[in-house]
This record gives sequence, C-alpha cells and structure tokens, in this order.
Amino acid sequence: MKLSKTKANNSFRYSWLLQRVYPYIKPVMGRVILGFLVALPVGLLDGIVAFSLKPYMDFVIGNKPWEFSLFGHAYSIQPDFLAFVIPFAVVGFAMTQGFFKYLNSYLTNWTSQKITNAVKRDLFSTFVYMDTAFYDENASGIIISRYLNDPDTASKNLVDKCKNIVTSFVGALGLIFVMLYSSWQLAIVGVAVLCVAFVPVALIRKVVKRTSNQTMVVNGDMTTNFNETYAGNKVISAYCLQKDRIKVFNSQVHRSFDIAMSLVKRSAWMSPLMYSIASVGIAIVLAVGTQLIRSGTMTSGDFASFVTSLLLLYKPMKTLGGTLTSIQNIFVALGRVFELFDIKPSIHDRENPAILDGLNDSIKFNNVSFAYNEEKTVLHNISMEIAKGETIALVGNSGGGKSTLVNLIPRFYDVNEGSITIDGVDIRDISLNSLRKNIAMVFQDNFLFTGTIRENIMMGDPNASEEELEQAVKSAHLEEMLAEMPDGLDTILGERGTTLSGGQRQRVAIARAMIRKSPIVILDEATSALDNKSEAIVQKALDNLIQNKTVFVIAHRLSTIQNAHRIAVINEGQLVELGTHDELMNIEHGQYRMLYEMQFKKQGALV
Ligand SMILES: Nc1ncnc2c1ncn2[C@@H]1O[C@H](COP(=O)(O)OP(=O)(O)OP(=O)(O)O)[C@@H](O)[C@H]1O
Ligand SMILES: [Mg+2]
Repeated sequence: MKLSKTKANNSFRYSWLLQRVYPYIKPVMGRVILGFLVALPVGLLDGIVAFSLKPYMDFVIGNKPWEFSLFGHAYSIQPDFLAFVIPFAVVGFAMTQGFFKYLNSYLTNWTSQKITNAVKRDLFSTFVYMDTAFYDENASGIIISRYLNDPDTASKNLVDKCKNIVTSFVGALGLIFVMLYSSWQLAIVGVAVLCVAFVPVALIRKVVKRTSNQTMVVNGDMTTNFNETYAGNKVISAYCLQKDRIKVFNSQVHRSFDIAMSLVKRSAWMSPLMYSIASVGIAIVLAVGTQLIRSGTMTSGDFASFVTSLLLLYKPMKTLGGTLTSIQNIFVALGRVFELFDIKPSIHDRENPAILDGLNDSIKFNNVSFAYNEEKTVLHNISMEIAKGETIALVGNSGGGKSTLVNLIPRFYDVNEGSITIDGVDIRDISLNSLRKNIAMVFQDNFLFTGTIRENIMMGDPNASEEELEQAVKSAHLEEMLAEMPDGLDTILGERGTTLSGGQRQRVAIARAMIRKSPIVILDEATSALDNKSEAIVQKALDNLIQNKTVFVIAHRLSTIQNAHRIAVINEGQLVELGTHDELMNIEHGQYRMLYEMQFKKQGALV
C-alpha cells in the first residue's frame, strides 16, 4: 500500500475513531477523568468572578444590605462586610484557579504522553512486521513522517483539546447561566448571536483534511531528502550535487509554505468573522440593556454582571472555535494512524503453520513465476531441485533475476505462480519464524546496525554462547582485524557500519550468518571488487560458512563457481542451463560457456 496516496477516509467517522482510540485511553482513564474534573473549576471560575460583580455593584456601591433567603432562613449581609470580603474572595478564587491549572497541565501532559507512546509502540510494531514490498514501495521519509508526526498530532493533543472543549464549554455555560440569572431576555439575544458565530467551523473540515494529507506527503519528501543527503553524502560531494540538493529542498519548503498558507487563507477568516458577529451581539445587548434598566426591569448590578459575563464569554468561545478547528487536524491524523494499523503485511503465517526444523531432503522450485508488479514478470517458470548439502551457484546477466530468486526462499516476496517446497512442504505453509531461522543470509550490501561489533554478530543468534561467538569470529577471519581495534569486539560502529571497510563489513556479516548455524545458507556475493588479499580472506570466511550446508550462492567470482557442485544460469528471468561446470562447458555455444570465457576465466588469469 502506498502511504502517500492514503486518504484518511475514516477521519470524520467519529464513532469509528472513538472505538479505535478507546483502547489507548482506557489504561490511563483514571487520570483522564481526574484531569477533566480538575479542568471544570478552571472553566467555571470566570463565571464566579463575573457573578460577584452583582452584589458588589448593587449592595456595596448601592450601599444597602444584601437580603436573601436560603432553605427557609432569611439572611442579611452588610455592605461593609461585602466590600471587605469580595476582593479577598476574588483573589482566593484566582489562586485556586492557578492551582487547578497546574494540576490540570500535569495530568494532561502525563496522559497525553502515555497515550502517544502506546500508539507509537503499536505503530512501530506495525512497521517492523511489514513485508519487503511495503518498504520497496514507500520512501523512508513518508514512513518516518507517518511515524513521528501523526501519533504526536493525533494523541498528544487529543486529551488537551478535548479538555479545552470541556473547560470552554463549561466556562461558557457558567457565564451563560450568570447572564440568564441577570436577565434572561438579554441572554437570549446574546446566545442566539453566538450560535450564528459557530456555523463556519463546520465548513472547513474538508480543507483541513486535504491540507493535512498534503502536508504529510511534503514532510515525507523532505525527510527522504534528508535521509538521502545523509546516506549519499559522498556521492553528493564527489559529484558536487550540493546545489541540486538545496534546490530540491527549497522547492519542498515552498510547497510546504503554499500548503500552510492555503489553510490559513481558508480558515483564518473564521476568528475575525466570529469576532464581528459577537460585536454585533454586544451592540444589540447594550441597546436592549439600556432600555431594560430605564424601564426598571433590570438593576445596574445585573447589567454589570451581564456585560462582564458577555465579555468574558468571548474567551471560552474563541478557544472553543479555535479548538474545534484544530481538532479537525487531530481527527485526520488519527484516521491516518488507525488506517496504518489496518494494513496487514501480505506475507504472514497461515493458520496453524508447520514448523520447519532443519533440512532433511531437498529444496524444490516448482514452475515458479514471479513479478514485482504488473508491468514485468521477473522470473519465468523456474523448476529445480537442490539436495541437502549441495552448493548451487547462480550466474547470469545483471538484472536477470538472481537476487529475486533467492529472496523468494525466506519469503521476502511470495511466488505468483508455482511453489517452493522444503522437504515437500510448501514454504507458505511453514511459519515465517521457523522458516527464516533455518536460513542464514549474507546480502550483497551488508547492513550493520549502530552498536558494537559483538551486538551485530550476536543478532544472528542472541542465545549464542561466548565460545560460539569466538568460533564465528575465528571462522569469519575477523581475529586479526579485532586485534587491531582497542575495544575489540566492543568497538562501536558508525551508523550502518560506515567505520569499517567493505571487506570487513562483509566478514562481520558472515560471522553473523555463521553464528546462526542454519542449515540453509543464501549468499549474494558482493560485486564490488576487493583487493586480492581481502578477497582471499573473505573467500576463506565464506568457505567456512558454507561447510556442510545447503547453499545458494549468487556468484561473481571464479573461486565461488569452482567450489559449487552445480551451476544455474539465470538469464532474463529464465533458468537456461543447470549442471556441473564440466557439463555446462560441454554445451556448444552454451550460455555458461560464453559467460565463463568472458567473465570468470579472466579472473583466473588475474589471480
Ligand atoms: N524491489 C523491486 N521492485 C521492482 N522491481 C525490482 C525490484 N528488485 C529488482 N527488480 C527488477 O527485477 C529484475 C531482476 O532483478 P534482480 O535484482 O533479481 O537481478 P540480479 O540478477 O540479482 O542482478 P545483479 O546481478 O545485477 O545483482 C530487474 O529487472 C530489476 O529491475
Ligand atoms: Mg543481485
């Protein structure tokens, strides 16, 4: 599935989203609820401040006692006392609000981080189990962008924004309640106007979704550019490509700017529009309010409370408007995250798979055809049988399909037609783990991870003993190299093992394959020429690796084909010849004979 083409179609199916996101919220539910509870008074306190203005205006300024009855008792509070208490009360409330705000921040961040981390963990597991075709199809940048940005956008702000909505909503409700209490006639006018102000929010959803998807793609492109600049830094320096890289990057920056601005153009008018509508509301309220006071329906204290509430109402309303806009982004990101969770790798275990425990008999290709995509079939109808203990060398034209053929054995890809069987069992019926445990691979470009040499070798078998490690080091002819390094096996390698030479990297990879002790070995020999001495060492290491194993080796060296029992010639995806060196050399105008004369014989002469 191509990630840059995803549509986040489920982004606004709220019940679907809720259902998917709930498992992540559930473990931290207690604190989420506590956070919401703490957030409520924060929102409500504005209303209380506005409410306290009424007694202040009517009784302190008006200088008369405040008389009211509560639960059948009549109370009377003196204006002097009120004048003394109310300012303290306001400060007290503000401090309480401050404390709750702190607690709220703490809880919000705690829960958000937890949720985000859980989502990221699952997303990482999803990525790590994806099949090879997924990685072929998607550039690194888009994967990194989907991994780094979406969970943050989606879950980090989720709790915060929901809480914003609740606090603003409750705050607004409190203020509206004060307004209703002060004058219900005026309150109706005010609230009606506010409702109108919210209509535009619903209209910009589509724009948000489109720009968010475009941003994801351009961020991915930028990250790919970074990665390639990093990995390809030598090529860039050697061919003076710096200016071109900058040009590409600048165009991506421009594109990102255009996308961001198109969102601003389409959404930034919302806030001023709401503000304008609100100001119309205030104007109407002032006019009607004056009439109500003059006619004696309303006290000036009521009016002061009302107008203060109305003005204070602007803040939660603005927050609410802003949050409802930005939460759209969260929904789009959430939609994209859960969409990823739904991608199932096309290579997976079938139900109750067989467990492969060693090779007893043979590996068989039965009329295997394979294509990476619809455009071109890479392998055509290949049939061959490799007996246990046999070494088969694959030779043929570049791009002919040798690497593809061996990649089918550990199921990096599945065959399109035909089948591959091990001891008569179709490899699609064998559990992936057990299949791959029985195969040790040394690739054409040997990938080492950041970390020590020891860690890199032990990846072959994390449970290997110290003696087995030593044995692997010895067999891979690494001892001499390690002796020269002050930290030996614990020498830390640069990213991708860049601090080692090509031949050294290869031997570390051979040690990694060796320690695995798998009965099947697949070797994609490096085409890059090593000098004669390193080549001889690598060759010795390889000889040790393939002893008593069943081996597929893509051969680029004379010595390798000389060591093989049989040779398979793969040209343009066809198995054209299969047999021993002597058999194939005897075919007149044979492909192998031609290849041998052109390529391998020369090497013999050189050595
Ligand atoms: N991941 C991929 N997606 C699509 N096509 C691919 C992929 N990998 C290889 N191909 C194509 O499949 C064909 C066979 O490639 P393959 O790597 O198997 O050749 P090869 O015989 O190993 O060549 P070489 O000797 O140069 O390593 C080529 O045409 C190549 O372009
Ligand atoms: Mg190859």
